[in-house]
Amino acid sequence: MDKIRVVGGNRLVGRVEINGAKNAALPAMAASLLTADSVYLENVPYVRDTLTTQDLLREMGVEAEILEDGSATLKASDVASQEAPYELVKTMRAAILVLGPLMGRFKKASVSLPGGCAIGARPINLHIMGLERMGAKCDVTHGYVDAATSGLHGSYIMMDTVTVTGTENLMMAATLAEGETVLDNAACEPEITDLASMLRDMGAQIEGDGTRTIRIRGVKKLHGCRHRIIPDRIEAGTFAVASAITRGDVEVSNCNPRHLTAVLAQLSQTGAQISIGPDSFRIKGRDPISSKNVTTYPYPAFPTDMQAQYMALMTQGNDSALITETVFENRFMHALELIRMGADITVEGRQAMVKGRKILTGARVQASDLRASASLILAGLVAEGETWIDRIYHLDRGYYRIEEKLAQLGAQIERVP
Ligand code: EPZ
Repeated sequence: MDKIRVVGGNRLVGRVEINGAKNAALPAMAASLLTADSVYLENVPYVRDTLTTQDLLREMGVEAEILEDGSATLKASDVASQEAPYELVKTMRAAILVLGPLMGRFKKASVSLPGGCAIGARPINLHIMGLERMGAKCDVTHGYVDAATSGLHGSYIMMDTVTVTGTENLMMAATLAEGETVLDNAACEPEITDLASMLRDMGAQIEGDGTRTIRIRGVKKLHGCRHRIIPDRIEAGTFAVASAITRGDVEVSNCNPRHLTAVLAQLSQTGAQISIGPDSFRIKGRDPISSKNVTTYPYPAFPTDMQAQYMALMTQGNDSALITETVFENRFMHALELIRMGADITVEGRQAMVKGRKILTGARVQASDLRASASLILAGLVAEGETWIDRIYHLDRGYYRIEEKLAQLGAQIERVP
């Protein structure tokens, strides 16, 4: 397996372009199942999770192709199977996103249960509850959820926990249901709004996306569309931390700074100097890095997908910082690897106390999930000597050639086959 080798010490300087958002591209690709017409997507990141989704759709009979230039063509005119098999779902939990579109258009679906992962149990009870409220019958047996309906109908659905893919699945299913569906306590991440605008381009009637209450009036049929995926706010946030931790000077372009308000506000509190443009921001790292507590919550608050990267930064803070993770119950695996690099971190349940002013030393470390792998690279950028990161297949799930982009900013980093 490939590894990443990082030698610490270089300040990052220059401009980096951000790719399309993985977490917007995955539901957009699944949405192609809602129509027999062609769907054309632009700015799709060429990463392992979008390629797995391409394979999953092809397995169902969809003509699906993603190109490295970010264009994707999807046509679900001859869907022969409504099954998402274990082999594919086990590699990518987001495969659950075919459940809603399949139920909306084909009135049946058989999707392998995603199961838990390194960061938490990740149940899908709210996805199932919502479909059942729309009239579906869902059986969970043999590791699969088998769902069927004679036709979905609109319903009022209150989700007791904010769920991103749950909101996306139910929104997609409701576009072809009879009558109006109201999703309450809905997720309002930018990826939700991006999907809603694509569905409207396909003829769906959706209001309130971006707020906690979304209304969907079902229509008989949806048509094809052309849609450009929003930039990846988490990739942009990762490069912002890379500049701050190396005391660098980086312009992060081709992104939407308004999607990063909480992240940039937190980084400026730590002392980074940030100037914001319409589709880019410039971030200059400063000494000292101020240790600041943070708590993750659903959007628009500080995102859980930036927690690991922020922890790496806090190992270099001038005091102690308390990091509280409220979204996932087990998202501190990276702390153990950062400790192997010399960090002083105490984890208790959903809180981690990070004592700063620690000189990190390069080590062999293992990535446990996508964002954890990014935090290990960030730590490696300031550690003394070499850091070798194993299991980078996690990294490739959601970052496109991150080591090349960092090298262009002056980092000493390479992928070692
Ligand atoms: C999405 O996952 C993202 N993935 C995750 O990004 C992200 O961390 C997460 O939202 C939170 O922002 C994609 O969009 C593909 P949730 P999702 O359902 O939808 C509980 C990355 O690094 N819950 O919003 O699976 C759940 O256990 C990935 O790119 C239920 O209890 O997350 C969790 O504690 C990692 N029942 C909380 O809600 C349900 O039915 C939020 O999970 C569903 C969720």
